Amino acid sequence: MAKPAVRYVCTHCGATSLKYSGKCFTCNNWGTIEEEPAACDSSPLSPTAGPLPSVECLSETAASVDHERISTGMQELDRVLGGGLMPASAVLLGGEPGIGKSTLMLQLARHTSARRLLYISGEESTSQIRDRARRLSIRSDHVLLVSEVDLNKIIGIIERDKPDIIIIDSIQTLHTGDFRSSAGTVTQIRECCSALLRETKQRNIVLLVIGHITKSGNLAGPKTLEHMVDTVLQFEGESFQRHRIIRTMKNRFGPTNEIGVFRMDEHGLKEVTNPSELFIAGRTSGVPGNAILAAIEGTRALLVEVQALVSKTNFPVAQRICTGIDSKRISILLAVLEKRLGFGTWGQDVFIKVAGGLKLAEPASDLAVASAIASGLNNTALSPGMVCAGEIGLSGEIRAISNGERRIREAAHLGFDTIILPKENTRELKPAIRKLPLKIIGCSSLQKALEEMKLSA
Ligand code: TYD
Ligand code: MG
Repeated sequence: MAKPAVRYVCTHCGATSLKYSGKCFTCNNWGTIEEEPAACDSSPLSPTAGPLPSVECLSETAASVDHERISTGMQELDRVLGGGLMPASAVLLGGEPGIGKSTLMLQLARHTSARRLLYISGEESTSQIRDRARRLSIRSDHVLLVSEVDLNKIIGIIERDKPDIIIIDSIQTLHTGDFRSSAGTVTQIRECCSALLRETKQRNIVLLVIGHITKSGNLAGPKTLEHMVDTVLQFEGESFQRHRIIRTMKNRFGPTNEIGVFRMDEHGLKEVTNPSELFIAGRTSGVPGNAILAAIEGTRALLVEVQALVSKTNFPVAQRICTGIDSKRISILLAVLEKRLGFGTWGQDVFIKVAGGLKLAEPASDLAVASAIASGLNNTALSPGMVCAGEIGLSGEIRAISNGERRIREAAHLGFDTIILPKENTRELKPAIRKLPLKIIGCSSLQKALEEMKLSA
């Protein structure tokens, strides 16, 4: 039977099919199917020519794994990388256009002067990159620039110039003539990335790849791209905000969910060493609907302001609009508030916002969100010196959370006088924590916590 000349691939999950459809039946996304040439025939497995690699004993391998990390000179970037760049590793950096991907990568050059850095741009000319480097005051002796999109030529350049670090800006612009599809399609992205990985792993080169993200916020290209690299970093938030958050989505060499915070000014990205101050800066105390959450992002404690606005709706169906937090979580909290505590939001629009563009995923944010809604609904401001954290269950109970002591320390460090936590987290606290100049209140239910906050339905 004749083999089909084309096949259809989902740009989101990489699933293939022989027929076009408007929806991918694997990941259920609409409009993500693209045509690509069918893969060549696979031949039955046959033994490979040449000597087989020797196997190693686990104890020997462990001894050789102790690689020295390469510092990027930016603590915030080192943190999201798990302590710096690993030799021969591949890092994918995603983010919206204009958020600062190219700027951040170029800033790496400032601190890695002991190593040859090759910046390959498919988006800008070398003179544009040079202009930017001048603005960022980067001396260019050890930085090699090239504007190229042809993968085969890029591999030739790598072989000729032997860099230690390579930056690809961006993977979507690269193209290899071995496939008929145009640049940016799934096949091209996947093939270019795997060819670069082969080349850089063999030569012990650090590969940094910039990737665009789609409208829905995912890295463009199949999920396989994320599986291929060692670390995936993503810029969070909007490009019109002054500060930028980079989050570790995946890391083979360190913790995930770690965040790095930067501020964009006229001289590039500057590190923000105390992000809590940024996320609670500019808050106005005494306003109903505002609560401060003692959050944990990766390995770091942060104080973040959660704001809720509850107002009578003018629509037949009341709106629930959330920024920085999952709307399903809000629906659950609204139901718990109404059913268990009598805080009804029927006929009321509820708007929730996490200040500073941060995205909250941890369940420990429940208590701050619920108290912000209750405070907004009651039109009673919470005490400005109070922070809280706790997961809320469907029966209105407050469940234990992770890293209670780190949250307490951060609240005390920033001068807050009270912290409300799950009761479980306040048992067996270390004496050093008890001595901190703030009142630690443990609550087993949302009802108790709201009473402590002087809120009632
Ligand atoms: P850029 O790194 O080009 O973004 P990306 O590669 O993610 O598309 O950043 C571009 C934005 O950053 C642009 O809006 C200008 C701004 N910017 C500054 O504010 N200060 C600077 O020093 C630089 C280099 C850029
Ligand atoms: Mg760019």
